[in-house]
Amino acid sequence: NMMREISGINEMEKRLQSLLNLNEIVIVPGNSDESPWVKEELGRASAFSMKQRLEGNNIIAVTGGSTMAAVAEMLTPDFSGSDTLFVPARGGIGEDVKNQANTICAKMAEHTGMRHRVLYVPDQVSKEVYKSFLKEPMIKEVLNLIKSANMVLHGIGDAITMAERRKTSPDDFEKITVGHAVGEAFGYYFDESGEVVHKVPTIGLQLEDLKHINHVFAVAGGSSKAKAIRAYLKSAPSSTILITDEGAAKELLKG
Ligand code: BG6
Repeated sequence: NMMREISGINEMEKRLQSLLNLNEIVIVPGNSDESPWVKEELGRASAFSMKQRLEGNNIIAVTGGSTMAAVAEMLTPDFSGSDTLFVPARGGIGEDVKNQANTICAKMAEHTGMRHRVLYVPDQVSKEVYKSFLKEPMIKEVLNLIKSANMVLHGIGDAITMAERRKTSPDDFEKITVGHAVGEAFGYYFDESGEVVHKVPTIGLQLEDLKHINHVFAVAGGSSKAKAIRAYLKSAPSSTILITDEGAAKELLKG
């Protein structure tokens, strides 16, 4: 498209692709730190990329966050001919209801006219109670669905922002700061070299599961997330499709 050529976004995508060693990057104009509508553009671009890769049957595992919530808003009832199920990628990891994966999956199902399943695992229970939860047939069933997802759609957060938002315990907070975590995804906290320094213990998709999944979409924008994106991508599968904005891309290109 002409606009993208004139503004140099296509060129930026190519440069960032080789810098980050990814097969595909989509950059939307603007900086979501500054303008809220940019998140909508991230949502639109994600919806477009997802639709291009739909198969007959799809299980799409989704994380929480305001970016994912924006993606849900941009989905439309044109998942034509597909049978698609949305599932939360992982159990509760301390987000507010509107930012929870369960809520977002429900929205995605509503907007596309497809189905969704929920995974309710309280995180404030004893180990014993937690273990018996895992034996529940309904929970087992959803866990199996998650493990057979052919698409994953996830956000990336700044480590400290996420630790604060999740009301992390002082001990875990210390692990995150002492470990110099800069980025977070799926409840894993990464330092600048991409090492995991802390992990929120919950069931569902684990980082190592990602390499078996055909399509992984990482959606994150805003210049303040550049460090987090760079850190996470060091351990992300190279098949990851990054959907970001100009604000983050410009920072990332500074190296
Ligand atoms: C959380 C996810 O819900 O959202 C995190 O569990 C992710 O893994 C975060 O980093 C991103 O949030 P936002 O609001 O910046 O899109």
